[in-house]
Amino acid sequence: MLEKKIRLEHSHRILFTRQAFAPANPCIRDLLLLDSPKKPPRVLVFADDQVLAANPGLRESIRAHARAHAEVYDLAGDVVELPGGESCKNDFALVEDCWEAIHEAGLDRHSYVFVIGGGAVLDLVCFAASTAHRGIRHARFPTTTLSQGDGGVGVKNGVNFFGKKNWVGSFAVPYAVVNDFAFLESLPARERRNGIIEAIKVSLIRDRAFFEEIERLAPELARLEQPALERVVQRSAELHVDHIATGGDPFELGSARPLDFGHWAAHKLEQITRFEVTHGEAVAIGMAVDLVYSVKTGLLDEATAQRVLRLVESLGFHTYHHGLLAEGQRGGPVILDGLEEFREHLGGELTVTLVPEVGRKLEVHEMDPCVIVAAMEELKARSSKFEIRNTGLR
Ligand SMILES: NC(=O)c1ccc[n+]([C@@H]2O[C@H](COP(=O)([O-])OP(=O)(O)OC[C@H]3O[C@@H](n4cnc5c(N)ncnc54)[C@H](O)[C@@H]3O)[C@@H](O)[C@H]2O)c1
Ligand SMILES: [Zn+2]
Repeated sequence: MLEKKIRLEHSHRILFTRQAFAPANPCIRDLLLLDSPKKPPRVLVFADDQVLAANPGLRESIRAHARAHAEVYDLAGDVVELPGGESCKNDFALVEDCWEAIHEAGLDRHSYVFVIGGGAVLDLVCFAASTAHRGIRHARFPTTTLSQGDGGVGVKNGVNFFGKKNWVGSFAVPYAVVNDFAFLESLPARERRNGIIEAIKVSLIRDRAFFEEIERLAPELARLEQPALERVVQRSAELHVDHIATGGDPFELGSARPLDFGHWAAHKLEQITRFEVTHGEAVAIGMAVDLVYSVKTGLLDEATAQRVLRLVESLGFHTYHHGLLAEGQRGGPVILDGLEEFREHLGGELTVTLVPEVGRKLEVHEMDPCVIVAAMEELKARSSKFEIRNTGLR
């Protein structure tokens, strides 16, 4: 056997800014200059239709920015608009539309794709860009709290296929991720709240001080105030990127996925509720299940679990949904199928991340279904008490 080691080095660049496309903002120019191009590269911009609708000046701003920086890049055509939200990942024809736009604009491997949008549009366009010409450099401009702090700063992309989430996709390190906080201002409240939960998640598995900071910021976060949101999104993004860069498995070849604390139940709950429950809302509930489960199995102390549940609820998230106890065809809650589906997605041995204390994670390879059901029953009882408390206040 002939074996040669191929070493690849990637830079994973994350920038935080406001109004990246304001002509006076040097951020995009500086990024493109890092590559020392011999002539201005061509850039094709794709955008989420709801971001364009909520930011009516954006198209003109992009054109003005390109005019102001013509020595650094050349717009390869009009902004390509794509339908925002999960539905764009369910229509493979949109991948072909992206390829066609890239082809018609004559992009090559010296060009760039920029994509502005929520996590769904980023996943779609980055997949198309990473497969066109075997990979065109792409820069992501996430526009939701969730994608700026979590999904959008990663190295994965893809679309849904065979009725399964993210079945087709690739790992591709983006040229850069530009977190433009101004985009968060046009987000509906529900979407603004969603990203906070991934910040809590990453704090629980990695950074106790950050968890305590979120607790201190809770009143501002509950009101969805912009400075508090920016702070937690930024720290969440830093921790996610740090995990990818230093966690030892950026392309997820192992069976563990530590950033997916609370996600085995969350993914299944999203599916059970036909995505009526958003990803962030489902993660709040999925983490609650795993926290109460951990108390029942002696991994975590009751006071810590209650402390996290109180924080999550004070931020406007529920910790129970009736879909959790919905029965499947084989009897027993269908949510439990989520464990096997979680294992299948990564392959290999089931590996679920739990939290034995704030700021530390623990991997387990089995979970007792009876205890999971007991945990969900407890959350159900807690939620009815919570409703009574709330009603009592009115
Ligand atoms: N690639 C990864 O590593 C990774 C990780 C986590 C999640 N994801 C994916 O991310 C997707 C979820 O992303 P999301 O939470 O950002 O939601 P989303 O992309 O579905 O966006 C939510 C809604 O907000 C709209 N929107 C986005 N930005 C807006 C803005 N600034 N103003 C007004 N409206 C705006 C969108 O059009 C959409 O309707 C899922 O498909 C999930 O699978 C990917
Ligand atoms: Zn998530």
